[in-house]
Amino acid sequence: MKLILFILTVLMLVGCQSPFTPEGKVTMPTAILPVAPTLTAQPTAPPTVTPTFPPPTLVPSTANPDRYEQARRLGRGVNLGNALEAPVEGEWGMVIQEEYFALIHEAGFDTVRVPIRWSAHAHTDAPYTIDATFFERVDWVIDQALSHELNVVINMHHYDELFDEPSQHQTRFIKIWEAIAERYKNTPTQLYFELLNEPHGNLTQNKWERLMSETVLAIRRIDNTHTIIVGGADWGGIQGLLNLKLPEGENNIICTFHLYDPMLFTHQGAGWVSEAYGTLGVVWPGPPEVKITPIPEAEQVNWVYTWFSQYNAFPYETNPAGPKPIRTTFDWAERMRERLDCPLWLGEFGAYEKADMQSRINWTSFVREQAEALDIPWAYWEFGAGFGIYNREDEGWNEELLRALIPE
Ligand code: GLC
Repeated sequence: MKLILFILTVLMLVGCQSPFTPEGKVTMPTAILPVAPTLTAQPTAPPTVTPTFPPPTLVPSTANPDRYEQARRLGRGVNLGNALEAPVEGEWGMVIQEEYFALIHEAGFDTVRVPIRWSAHAHTDAPYTIDATFFERVDWVIDQALSHELNVVINMHHYDELFDEPSQHQTRFIKIWEAIAERYKNTPTQLYFELLNEPHGNLTQNKWERLMSETVLAIRRIDNTHTIIVGGADWGGIQGLLNLKLPEGENNIICTFHLYDPMLFTHQGAGWVSEAYGTLGVVWPGPPEVKITPIPEAEQVNWVYTWFSQYNAFPYETNPAGPKPIRTTFDWAERMRERLDCPLWLGEFGAYEKADMQSRINWTSFVREQAEALDIPWAYWEFGAGFGIYNREDEGWNEELLRALIPE
């Protein structure tokens, strides 16, 4: 009798599950079969089978790569920013050229991150088809990167409507990712999928976590091989990773964060941030030789006023434009890596062209050294625009800034 019940139980278990499983998921059928004999003592139900099982269409992973190895491989990278995440490529001055890939590879970079505004190139109605010509353009960028021995991270950038109205756009977001996964599922694993750049606005932490999990599952039904990269809510800083809950059972994931501290230095005079960032001449590290008076628009903002008082007065070690805030970020990063058991990637850091060059070099090399001391791979923001390390007009590297990133 016990034997018959055991056989029946096993048949039930096998019958309602896919033989294909992502690796490492404890709730997967492969993990259940070995414990099946204990079920014979309670023959009424197969208790571990719950509706939360991934549907049977989940595809098998042929070569599920190790996430720590995948992160290590990212090494040193650069963002091909201001191109495909502009509403139309070229509108922000930057068009990705074939020669960039060889230049980037020869300079010693391992990776390009390609920010992409998919939402501007997909239908607004179901099934949210992605524009064919645009898809081909992304194909070309990926091909170029891979054929120049560069890893390539494609992301979803500037999906502003999603940040304004998450519930209106979550289905479209998932469908766009399904189309991307479908198209690239057979591409080598040097291609990475980064789900969403700097989640913010009404896409709060809870909403983002739910959407992230659903999207990961949707991608895994199509593509169980490519590494997925996720960042935290509230603009993708390290704080966003503090309470992040990663999709359960998913073990091919990398966590990303961005670092622009202090914003009053890295974003001084940038046109897309508020007037409070308008004071120029902020050097790194502080304190400055001659005290800086913030512009009136900045002085009116309490935290900015306080920041400048400290910047003008505090010594190097405790200056807000000194090593302290950056070291704190990396301390957190180390803790987050352990808590989440998730390898980290610093996907963006950089200082805008309105800061003086020596300060940009100081800051960039300091951040890069901190990251590398903790084995955190990174990607500089960005290649050839306002934060650029390459001058497109002169067709030459900004050698000093390049050396801040790749010293040898
Ligand atoms: C973020 C923004 C990008 C901006 C960069 C620096 O990635 O999405 O557009 O240029 O940060 O501010």
